[in-house]
Amino acid sequence: MGFLIVRNDITKMKVDAIVNAANTSLLGGGGVDGAIHRAAGSELLAECRGLNGCQTGQAKITKGYRLPAKYVIHTVGPIWAGGSQNEEGLLRACYRNVLGLAAEKGIKSIAFPLISAGAYGYPRDQALNVATSEISEFLLDHEMAITLVVFDKASFQLSEKRYTAIAEYIDERYVDKNLITRSGGIESLKEVQEDVGEFLRSAMPVAERREKSSRSLEDLVNQVEESFSESLLRLIDEKGMTDSETYKKANVDRKLFSKIRNDKFYHPGKQTVIAFAIALHLNLDETSDLLGRAGFALTHSSQADIIIEYFIEEGNYSIFEINEALFAFDQKLLGL
Ligand code: APR
Repeated sequence: MGFLIVRNDITKMKVDAIVNAANTSLLGGGGVDGAIHRAAGSELLAECRGLNGCQTGQAKITKGYRLPAKYVIHTVGPIWAGGSQNEEGLLRACYRNVLGLAAEKGIKSIAFPLISAGAYGYPRDQALNVATSEISEFLLDHEMAITLVVFDKASFQLSEKRYTAIAEYIDERYVDKNLITRSGGIESLKEVQEDVGEFLRSAMPVAERREKSSRSLEDLVNQVEESFSESLLRLIDEKGMTDSETYKKANVDRKLFSKIRNDKFYHPGKQTVIAFAIALHLNLDETSDLLGRAGFALTHSSQADIIIEYFIEEGNYSIFEINEALFAFDQKLLGL
């Protein structure tokens, strides 16, 4: 369960339901509407004819016919008119009504296109923001595997400001691991020495911070032997969180969480460890500590790690916003 973003053609998705960005007639059109009708075949149109259209913001369900998906949930997004005609309210209603109808029908997996982000002209970064916030809100108290399907990269846009800020942050830190092995002149060796020097200087305050940390020496000694799983469970208690709150905020499946809870020596993948660090709002030092217990470390030779560092430094622990950024920079997503 949880929320993923993928590059694909929604008509290929093998899920219980796919969502169609339709128009009020429900009689087909271009874009994703046209693609879904072409793939589903003429029975879909025949069933739609009997639905008497659909109002903007509302949702109606039909069978999927020749699609791999069992159902199609049709919704009609708002046409962008500058933002003063309640476009955001209507777009939010699309996601809420589709998800409400899906939950009512017992649907366990569903795929969305970016509603209104095409012919209806909704600014793509704002359309993405509405999608992400409505889906993450829904997942706080529902179990469903939700996928946002991005057909072409151009239609997936982070806000210009955020994209630029992250790109600059990466530029200042990214150490291309080939640099050190590439036979370069003194220049590259000098750069490496500078990087190592800078790293040691920056590590110093962390060491001092460790000494002054509120945990007593005895606590620290006890924690030295802690496994990843023990550390995670201790941190959940310390943060006063419940198990389900933690794995939902980490975008991690309930089954995987119970494996970690029941097996003291279970070692999940690096993305999963980071997802828990984000769910628990750990700072960089605590995140490195938790990663270390699972045998991993954050490194500046990984753009994904630098993006995680950016969000932790910003104090932004929304795993869905982090996944949007990872997706925009073609990196592996967190959780699941
Ligand atoms: N799979 C996934 N996403 C797709 C696909 C596909 N096969 N084809 C298009 N998209 C994406 C577009 O890139 C865009 O990001 O779907 C998003 C929505 O674009 P549109 O299909 O143009 O839908 P919308 O902007 O809501 O406009 C709806 O267009 O097709 C007509 O009949 C439809 O009148 C209605 C209007």
